[in-house]
Amino acid sequence: MKSILFVDDEPNVLEGLQRMLYPMRKEWRMVFAQSGEEALKRMEEEPFDVIVSDMRMPGMDGATLLAEVMKRFPQTVRIVLTGQTGNESVFRSVGAAHQFLMKPCNPTALKACVDRAFTLRDLLNNDALKRVVARVESLPALPATYTRLIKELQSPETSLAAIGKIIETDVAMTAKVLQLVNSAFFGLRQHVASATQAVTYLGLDTIKALVLMAGVFAQAHVTKLTAAFSLESLWRHSMLVGVYAQAISRSAGADDETIRNAFTAGVLHDAGILILVENFAEDYRKILEICETRQLPLAQVEEAGLGCTHAGIGAYLLGIWGLPDPIVEAVAFHHSPGQCAARIFTPLSAVHIADVFAHEMTEAEHYEPGRKLCHEYLEALGLQEKLGQWREICSKDISK
Ligand SMILES: [Fe+2]
Ligand SMILES: [Fe+2]
Repeated sequence: MKSILFVDDEPNVLEGLQRMLYPMRKEWRMVFAQSGEEALKRMEEEPFDVIVSDMRMPGMDGATLLAEVMKRFPQTVRIVLTGQTGNESVFRSVGAAHQFLMKPCNPTALKACVDRAFTLRDLLNNDALKRVVARVESLPALPATYTRLIKELQSPETSLAAIGKIIETDVAMTAKVLQLVNSAFFGLRQHVASATQAVTYLGLDTIKALVLMAGVFAQAHVTKLTAAFSLESLWRHSMLVGVYAQAISRSAGADDETIRNAFTAGVLHDAGILILVENFAEDYRKILEICETRQLPLAQVEEAGLGCTHAGIGAYLLGIWGLPDPIVEAVAFHHSPGQCAARIFTPLSAVHIADVFAHEMTEAEHYEPGRKLCHEYLEALGLQEKLGQWREICSKDISK
């Protein structure tokens, strides 16, 4: 039985939750706390699998509470239940929350959210994956610039100029970000000359994703393994999948959060390849060669040769970096979306489709042969008939 701790300062919200979740009592042990302080006290007394917290509370607010839970009880899944739609609260808790739910929420949505969180955790706790991680000498570090950005975003007086300045103190990062911003991928009419300008044009979330992406790539040293695989082609492919995933989720009518997460997950979806290339270069060259000569799916050959896939190891990395679950999930299951418990449109749906489209449209850079859409999954989501339209949107995309 899973144990869940609910935190909200308003007694009637808690009562409502209690009433609504009554049917779940056989599956979940539920405890209700009225403040952050009380919640921490309960957690000291007994472990909880999940904490679901309100954001705005007098005394200790949700962001502070979840940051504390992250530090002291890292195993607990952290879910924010918020009535605010503004970005501000979301920014403040970046890193501290695994999932976001909007109020009012129904038992089905909450249950789906908890199930998804556990499916993902099972995958990341998998022994074979852990054995590979143990052999990995160095996992890329979370880019320092990203950490500084998150810190700055938590300050109530933050400004675009302050954000821009943080990026600019990292000269190599600024160069990379500006190169990306000015590339055809974004189709901006004006040349962007500074990080502050880049933030203004593209928005913070896009810039944050680019900072992460540039950081991961900067930590890789092997530049070319086979004729089809080079760092350069992986870089282009990653950008393409980010841009496509964003366009697809926009066309699917997804909410802003999903669109932003789809972009981030898209640019990071193959980050696991970088880890494997960096740590097992020779083995990985062989894996790629087998794929190319026999036209076998990369994930299948990786699994046979290393015991894990680049999707799993990439998700593992983003998980330790504290990125939100929908992003980690999209990376983890981008080859096998059916494994994810969610049957709604998520960043995973967008990234799965975007990845296959990107591979279809750039044959020359086919280091991942045999990428196919998972029609069973798309059917279950009712997305089949949209594919034609999305393929067209992506093929017209400026970034091609
Ligand atoms: Fe992949
Ligand atoms: Fe890919």
